[in-house]
Amino acid sequence: MTPGTRPDAAGDTDGRRPTADVERFYGRWAGLYDPIARRFPRVRAVREAVADACRLAPGDTVVEMGCGTGANVSYLRERVAPGGRVVGLDVTAPALRRARRRAERRPAPHDGDDVTVAFARADVSDPPVSGPVDAVVGTFVSGMFADAAAVVDGWCDLAADGHVVLADGAPSRRPAARPLNALFRAVTVVSTPPTARLRYERDLLAGLRERVDAAHGRLRERSTATASREFLLGFVRLTGGRVE
Ligand SMILES: C[S@@+](CC[C@H](N)C(=O)[O-])C[C@H]1O[C@@H](n2cnc3c(N)ncnc32)[C@H](O)[C@@H]1O
Repeated sequence: MTPGTRPDAAGDTDGRRPTADVERFYGRWAGLYDPIARRFPRVRAVREAVADACRLAPGDTVVEMGCGTGANVSYLRERVAPGGRVVGLDVTAPALRRARRRAERRPAPHDGDDVTVAFARADVSDPPVSGPVDAVVGTFVSGMFADAAAVVDGWCDLAADGHVVLADGAPSRRPAARPLNALFRAVTVVSTPPTARLRYERDLLAGLRERVDAAHGRLRERSTATASREFLLGFVRLTGGRVE
């Protein structure tokens, strides 16, 4: 598996990268996003469940798409030790810098686990990696793709005979949680790049729900066995699938 083999993995359209808004936004807020990504209520349980759903074994290779500041890396690393490989891909350079620093500062009890951790800057809607990999993970990222099902298709191809695991925030389908959807909308607005088209969708939550449904639905279609869980009153959905 070889990450980052293209000269400009983030791609270029008319002289402007399609991910430019995302990079600017997450680049500016990487410092604030990082503690939220690690300490938000129940987020550790989500990350544990994501890592479990990858069904990893020692020596395996796992690729994380849109790894951000690396909040999942320690969970994944534990599951491929010893001898495995964790590769994090993201377009936002400051987020990747934080992820690298955290991986280098790994505390003593885990020293000697002999796991290779690597990060590369790349557009994960067309990741510059070739398989085989044992698992692909995407957390809080599939709702950002205009054609989320097509992106997930590519991830399933990469993890053929392995697992793909998604966890995403979306409006809750539970009647008891509906009053909280306004709060969820506010969180979604502030955590969406201000210049991105999706922030100005007439119905932001409906658009987000459609993209997350499309991503998770495509994963279910491509999987022979799936696991689904919900967290935070249904505002966070996890789907894991074994793909062929
Ligand atoms: C909400 S953050 C989630 C970060 C991390 N997965 C987590 O769970 O904390 C979304 C991340 O996806 C990245 N991202 C969005 N679109 C991307 C793309 N097309 N290619 C690579 N990374 C992307 C952003 O740079 C950002 O770091």
